[in-house]
Amino acid sequence: MSALGGKVAVVTGASRGIGRAVAEALEGAGALVVRLARSATDERPLEGLRRTGGHDRRVELRCDVTVERDVARAAETLLATVGPPDILVNNAGTFLLKPLVETTGEEFLRQIDVNLLGAFLVLRAFVPAMVERDGHVVTIGSIADHVGFPGNAAYAASKFGVRGLHETLKAEYAGRGLRTTLVSPGPTDTSLWDPIDPDRQHDLPNRAAMLQPSDVADAVLFAVTRSRRANIDLIRVMPI
Ligand SMILES: NC(=O)c1ccc[n+]([C@@H]2O[C@H](COP(=O)([O-])OP(=O)(O)OC[C@H]3O[C@@H](n4cnc5c(N)ncnc54)[C@H](OP(=O)(O)O)[C@@H]3O)[C@@H](O)[C@H]2O)c1
Repeated sequence: MSALGGKVAVVTGASRGIGRAVAEALEGAGALVVRLARSATDERPLEGLRRTGGHDRRVELRCDVTVERDVARAAETLLATVGPPDILVNNAGTFLLKPLVETTGEEFLRQIDVNLLGAFLVLRAFVPAMVERDGHVVTIGSIADHVGFPGNAAYAASKFGVRGLHETLKAEYAGRGLRTTLVSPGPTDTSLWDPIDPDRQHDLPNRAAMLQPSDVADAVLFAVTRSRRANIDLIRVMPI
């Protein structure tokens, strides 16, 4: 049987970039992956799918992680059909690059909203049911969850916060079977960089020198395919 055969995974922000690569890697290992994103089509409902045998289908659910009723609907749909996820990858996020004093309160709150509140709402909706499955929560942080960079005031505040969520989850569920992993990637070549165009800016990494989304997906796959005895707490992935 494949490494994740019979497992159900939920990946937020799975319509492109790192989330899509993670979804593909988990599917490749045999999991039935439910991809959440605002642009998801909801075309293929979960009804009729079972934990096993359903993983050949791509399943999407439309969900804005900042909207509590969207997140609740996604969790209810899953629980009523395939049951609690075994793996949750909290990945959805956006990136604002702006000096601290130029960042408006609205921009700051928007980063917190998507990257931190969104991750929190998703945890609250899914984690209680995952405990009975000895589930695994993977949080996609960033190098900016532990290092301060110029222009990262709002982003770093959200990502340091996400690391706090990971640490809290780990402490609250210690000894109860839930595994928790924080994956903190360095710069990765995704559409997140499109509005910034880093190749035209001397103080930013060149896109060709960045990680690929599959490099981050490899780290996630490694964490979720260890033996039941082992919890991988933290993976930091940087370009060489
Ligand atoms: N790229 C990097 O250099 C890098 C480095 C370290 C960490 N990260 C982190 O990796 C994660 C993914 O980033 P990425 O580079 O793959 O970015 P991306 O290519 O821009 O993809 C972002 C994903 O998040 C989804 N999303 C955005 N807002 C959402 C919302 N409110 N609700 C639900 N889904 C939402 C998007 O889908 P829709 O637009 O369809 O909703 C998309 O699937 C983020 O948490 C980011 O902070 C990225």
